[in-house]
Amino acid sequence: MTSASQDLRRGAPGSLVRPDGAEVGISVFHDEGVYRAELEKIFAKCWLFLGHESQLRKPGDYISARMGEDEVVVTRNSAGELRAFLNSCRHRGAKVCRADQGNSRAFRCPYHGWTYDLDGNLIGVPRLKTAYLGELDRSSIKLVEVAKIDTAHGLIFASWDPAAPTLAEYLGDFMPYLDLLFGRAESGFEVIGGVHKWTIETNWKIPAENFSGDQYHLSSTHASSVEVGLRNRVTEYGHTIHVDEGHGFTREKGGAQQGTAAVTGYTEYVRKVQERIKRKNPELAEFVPVGVGTIFPNISFMDSMRFLTLRLWQPAGPHRVDVNSWCFVDSSLSDELKDAAMRQYVLSFGPSGMFEQDDGEIWTSISEATRGVVAQRHSFDYSMGLGHEMPVKERAGVALPGVMGEAFITEANQRSFYRRWRRLMMEQ
Ligand code: FES
Ligand code: FE
Repeated sequence: MTSASQDLRRGAPGSLVRPDGAEVGISVFHDEGVYRAELEKIFAKCWLFLGHESQLRKPGDYISARMGEDEVVVTRNSAGELRAFLNSCRHRGAKVCRADQGNSRAFRCPYHGWTYDLDGNLIGVPRLKTAYLGELDRSSIKLVEVAKIDTAHGLIFASWDPAAPTLAEYLGDFMPYLDLLFGRAESGFEVIGGVHKWTIETNWKIPAENFSGDQYHLSSTHASSVEVGLRNRVTEYGHTIHVDEGHGFTREKGGAQQGTAAVTGYTEYVRKVQERIKRKNPELAEFVPVGVGTIFPNISFMDSMRFLTLRLWQPAGPHRVDVNSWCFVDSSLSDELKDAAMRQYVLSFGPSGMFEQDDGEIWTSISEATRGVVAQRHSFDYSMGLGHEMPVKERAGVALPGVMGEAFITEANQRSFYRRWRRLMMEQ
């Protein structure tokens, strides 16, 4: 598309996306005003991913996280419940927690020493008597708490919006796919190797939409990864599915097999998992591994059966994404196989992984090449397969929810992502 529809450059930020999601004004990836509106209308409203329960096993365990640009600390309190608070002291705003993770009974602000317990209560104020003259009502001061926090398959999500739907409602029709994704580990998954963090100079929506279902880029962007044997050739057969607008995934039949180097013992593990799922429901076995996807707005996953990675695209301005990436492994695996899975993750999707490097380079170039005033007068085309979407039940003949394209390679998921974005940005 050479020029943006004039309509896409007028009015509220939401109007920068065509109602069917098939055309997106380039300024949504650059405009400071659009970015500020996203923080309000998307990141202060939606359910956002914080981490995994395996990172907070015992009372007192905590992790640092971020919701939009708001830093939070997630704790497991003495009753074993999860809580999440703005990581900012109520006195002058300093960070009360400065570590990525740890275990503590309380958080003491390093500035003047106010201390908060695991439930965010202010339990200590230096010189309460001599300086405040006993007149500060400690009980009325608490760390700012998220409105809602909940988990699904051990994944911790929270929302700032008291009017938000429940997490189950928010995940909606994506839940059966999440069940498949995490159901392959009978005794659950665990995070290994901590959280990998790096920065990409691009807009958060670029990687989020890529993971939502961009099969189109594989044979071009990742051609060299195929050549060196890190990935099977693209088969052009699989499923590209979205649900409830905004959540989507794409999977090649049999799985993409990223990091295909044979690992003794792993082949046997994969065979056993597939057999178990087939016994339960042969129809669904074809959907394992689930593949690559995004839960709106900014948490994506990639499951190759060998490893499962979750990656969070944290917005840090219109041109910067702070990436957090986790490697999940089936907790029933031996230490040797867990190590092997970790190595494959690092090789392919870790910060210096081959696929990550391929993608990051392109995403950065998109932001560089389109940030000029002339480029921003134009729009991107997302029309691939438009009008050829149909229910999964009809197209694939399986009793699963959602919508898929007639062709495996389609931009139906990206359109769904931008329709959801548009709807939220239009809300008052
Ligand atoms: Fe935390 Fe003053 S800013 S005690
Ligand atoms: Fe890629």
